[in-house]
Amino acid sequence: MSELELAGQRVLIREDLNVPLKDGRVSSDARIRAALPTIRQAVAAGGRVLLMSHLGRPVEGEPATEFSLAPVAERLAELLGQPVALVSDWRQGVSLEDGEVALLENVRFNPGEKADDEALARAYAGLCDVFVMDAFGTAHRAQASTHGVARFAPVACAGPLLAGELDALEKALAHPARPLVAIVGGSKVSTKLAVLETLAQKVDQLVVGGGIANTFLAASGKPVGKSLCEHDLIPAARELMARTSVPLPEDVVTGKEFAESAAAQTKSADAVADDDMILDIGPHAAAAIARVIADAGTVLWNGPVGVFEFAQFSAGTEALARAIADSSAFSLAGGGDTLAAIDKFGIADKVSYISTGGGAFLEYVEGKTLPAVAMLQQRADEA
Ligand code: 3PG
Repeated sequence: MSELELAGQRVLIREDLNVPLKDGRVSSDARIRAALPTIRQAVAAGGRVLLMSHLGRPVEGEPATEFSLAPVAERLAELLGQPVALVSDWRQGVSLEDGEVALLENVRFNPGEKADDEALARAYAGLCDVFVMDAFGTAHRAQASTHGVARFAPVACAGPLLAGELDALEKALAHPARPLVAIVGGSKVSTKLAVLETLAQKVDQLVVGGGIANTFLAASGKPVGKSLCEHDLIPAARELMARTSVPLPEDVVTGKEFAESAAAQTKSADAVADDDMILDIGPHAAAAIARVIADAGTVLWNGPVGVFEFAQFSAGTEALARAIADSSAFSLAGGGDTLAAIDKFGIADKVSYISTGGGAFLEYVEGKTLPAVAMLQQRADEA
C-alpha cells in the first residue's frame, strides 16, 4: 500500500476488527489500535477510505444488532479523531471525500460472504480503485471480503499490518535466532495437534502447558484426576513425545472445581488425586520454563499455561509472561487468550511482536497457505 498513489482514490481496506464486546461496547480495542497506522496512512495520503470487517459469527443474511459493527465504528472514530460513518446500504456505492473514513456494516451479514461468492466479491471490488488486504487475523479465510475481492479489485495489495505480521512470523520461523523455543498452552490438544507436530520439527525446545499438558501428563502415565484431558489423543501425544523432548510440569496447582472460588493446592504432578483438576503449573515448573526462555534466541508463545483469569491459578502464566518480558530473545505471541494474558500482566511493550491473529497465526505456524495472501501473490505475479 505504501508504494501506491492513494490521493483521490477509493481505497477499500479489509481489516480484522473482530473485537470482543461487552454491554454493547468494545471491551478490548487491541485489534482496532493495530489497524490504526494503516488507516491513518491511507487518510494522510488523501484516500477515500472505506473499511470492512466481520464481527463474530452471525447467521449469514440475518443482520442482528448484537453483531453490528456500530460500537467498533464509534471506538475507531474516537481513536482516529474523525467521524467514521457505518454504512449498511452500500450496494449503490459509497460516496466519500478525500481523507474521509467509513466502515461497511459486518460483511458476514451479506449472503455469500463465507462461501467466497463471486458476485459478492465483484460487488465489493466495484466499490474501490484499490483494495488493501490488511486483515492478517482473517487471512486464513477464503471469503468474499478477503480472498474474492482481492481477485476482482482493479488493484489489490497488502497493507502495512498484514505485511508486518508476515515479516515477524517469517523472522521467527524461517530465520530464527537459536535456540528457538515454542510454548504452546491453551485448553485442548485437538485444536493444536497440527501446530504441535509442525513445531516439533522446527523448534529446539517445545514446551506444553495448560489443558494441553494434561493430555501429555496422562500419556506419560501421570494421574490427572478430573482435569481436562483428551484421552483419545493420548496415543498422538505419546508419538510426539517419542519424536521430540516435551518436558512435563514437575508440579501443578489443583482445585476441586473449575471456579473462581475454588481453593488452590500446589502439589507434585505425581500426587494429583482422583477428584483434583489441574488448573495451573506449579512454581518449579514455571521456574523451569523461565530458565528455558532465559537461554532462548527466539520465543514463540501461543496459549496460557493455566486458568489465568482466576487469581489463584494465574501464577504460572504470569511467571511465563514475566520470563518473556525479561528475556532478550525475539519474542512473538499470538492468539486471543495469549493477548488477554499479555494485557493482564502488562507486558505488551516487552514482547517483540504481538500478532493480531488467532486461527491465522496457528495456520501460518503450521505451514499452511493463507488464501488471501496467496491471492495477493497471484495478483502481483500477474501484474
Ligand atoms: C479471529 O478472531 O480469529 C478472526 O477474526 C477470524 O474469525 P473467525 O474464526 O470467525 O473466522
